[in-house]
Amino acid sequence: MKSILIGLMLLAGMTASGQPSNVHLIPQPAEMQVLTGMWTLTGNATITYNKPGGQKVADMLVQKLNAPTGFKLAARQGQDGAIQLNLNATADQQLGKEGYTLVSSSRGIVIAANEPAGLFYGMQTLLQLFPKEIESKTTAKVNWTVPVVKITDYPRFAWRGLMLDVSRNFFTTDEVKRYIDEMARFKFNTFHWHLTDDNGWRIEIKSLPRLTEVGAWRVPRYGQFGERKAPEPGEAATVGGFYTQDEVRDIIQYAQERNVTIVPEVDVPGHSMAAIAAYPELSCTKDPNTTVNPGSKFAEWHGDGTFTMLVDNTLNPSDEKVYAFLDNVFTELATLFPNPYIHVGGDECYRGYWEKDPGCQELMKQLNATESVKLHGYFMNRLEKILNAKGKKLLGWDEILEGGLSPGATVMSWRGIKGGIEAAHLGHDVVMTPTTFAYIDYTQGDPTVDPPLYANLRLKKCYSYNPLPEGVDAKYILGGQGNLWTEQIETLRHAEYMTWPRGWALAEDFWSPDEKKNWDDFVKRVENQFNRADMAAVNYSTALYDAIVKARAKNNKLWVEMESEVPGLDIYYTLDNSMPSRYALKYEKPFELPEGPVTLRVVTYRNGAPVGHLITLKAEQLKERIWWE
Ligand code: ACM
Repeated sequence: MKSILIGLMLLAGMTASGQPSNVHLIPQPAEMQVLTGMWTLTGNATITYNKPGGQKVADMLVQKLNAPTGFKLAARQGQDGAIQLNLNATADQQLGKEGYTLVSSSRGIVIAANEPAGLFYGMQTLLQLFPKEIESKTTAKVNWTVPVVKITDYPRFAWRGLMLDVSRNFFTTDEVKRYIDEMARFKFNTFHWHLTDDNGWRIEIKSLPRLTEVGAWRVPRYGQFGERKAPEPGEAATVGGFYTQDEVRDIIQYAQERNVTIVPEVDVPGHSMAAIAAYPELSCTKDPNTTVNPGSKFAEWHGDGTFTMLVDNTLNPSDEKVYAFLDNVFTELATLFPNPYIHVGGDECYRGYWEKDPGCQELMKQLNATESVKLHGYFMNRLEKILNAKGKKLLGWDEILEGGLSPGATVMSWRGIKGGIEAAHLGHDVVMTPTTFAYIDYTQGDPTVDPPLYANLRLKKCYSYNPLPEGVDAKYILGGQGNLWTEQIETLRHAEYMTWPRGWALAEDFWSPDEKKNWDDFVKRVENQFNRADMAAVNYSTALYDAIVKARAKNNKLWVEMESEVPGLDIYYTLDNSMPSRYALKYEKPFELPEGPVTLRVVTYRNGAPVGHLITLKAEQLKERIWWE
């Protein structure tokens, strides 16, 4: 029976699971049929939109098609094009705001949606149905074929986000736009813009000019973040940058054209060293020598998630000046950003200076509070009132649960999923961004190969994520988000490398029906997407091919265990310091590492060709790995 089924699938050009072999969509559509046949785009094809609301998407499609094909296509209003973008006269309930149908036949393509957002996503799907050369910046000579398909597609979650931290390192307006464009291709609709932190304040606030005159600049430093030399007294702060309000408006509009809404984050009351460098009076210690941190050490982490700040980076919750300051900041933000949310941070707030401050002690008495965490709750409550007065809703990291959640707060669950579950049980909306599945600043391959960071998150783990925790009412889970912190990321190219392909996995976690997800099939689509990214000149990591090397202690001996998350790879290794060619030892099962100063070298191969990075591990490093696991 199974072999008949496989035979039928092969006839239809299907892979063993999921999408047919000539269709490689990410994220996987809700429903898709692939039929036999092709349609071919030619230079005399017509592109139409039936209502003015479809014109922007139609013009964008024309631009996307003209560059690689060299055609001079144009869009016009009508309903007779070879490619039609049609807004439904009556809303199709199943499609909602962002869904679409895409039907291709030998006569052409019809994309239909209730709203322009759906047409935009239909366009993205159509582009992925063309040959990879559609992503080329220069004219390519291929047959511009589209397979015959019938797609009905809509998202699983309304919030499909990526966060970019532009404080630790500054990214230019053009770089931010490029990041937004890349995410929109995979149907992400929310760009969380982490605009302030200890290492830079990145948005012009006209009423508080020192925030960018002082707070946007730090001294030049290189090397591992957190281990760099502190600023010297009087040293010139020359590294950084910020977005003017005109630039912010320009980015917001660019994002809107791609169905991406921007959630700005101003991270308070902790993570505020850049603001305090500009206005020292906002902290308890009021140190006039506070500087924007260049990645030098300013906190002691105790290994259990707790920490002591060596420099005060926290706003003073007992000082009315702080609320007046934040009122100014949020007034300008609320005017600029159309998104209903403002993210106020709330994470990793050190309360040590509050606990020594007479004003804070007095406030605790007034609040009848015995624990300083109540000051955090008080601060967030005040912020919520400020935001609500400007028609905005408060969003914060899950620490905002600890001091008592303010009434309308939405929680971003990052320290695992616990905070999200708790907030949902309390009847609050939640966005799921747990470190364990969604922190794309973590290394993705072997920690000795990838740029070093303290935790690892492989593609397969990202792909396994289901943002809806068991036992939680789905109506409170707005969706999910991947977070890219940039302490160690200085360039857009590196940001791309960290984001893709893990962002593709998250895109599918947030968009596609959970039951449609299939790892082996996803890997094939990722590989196809790599070719498209090459054409589009987008950087990505190939760490998924790298061997996973584990060490175990067994009877006082060190055992090595290896695996690959990509099916069908061969793992070759050496113990004599030679390069692992395909004639090296082939890994079959766990083995005992010989005693002595042995070095393990590993490379994965597919069909005799190397695909993974070389991993080199000395016996001591393997021993450390017993605990690293
Ligand atoms: C966070 O990662 N500190 C929210």
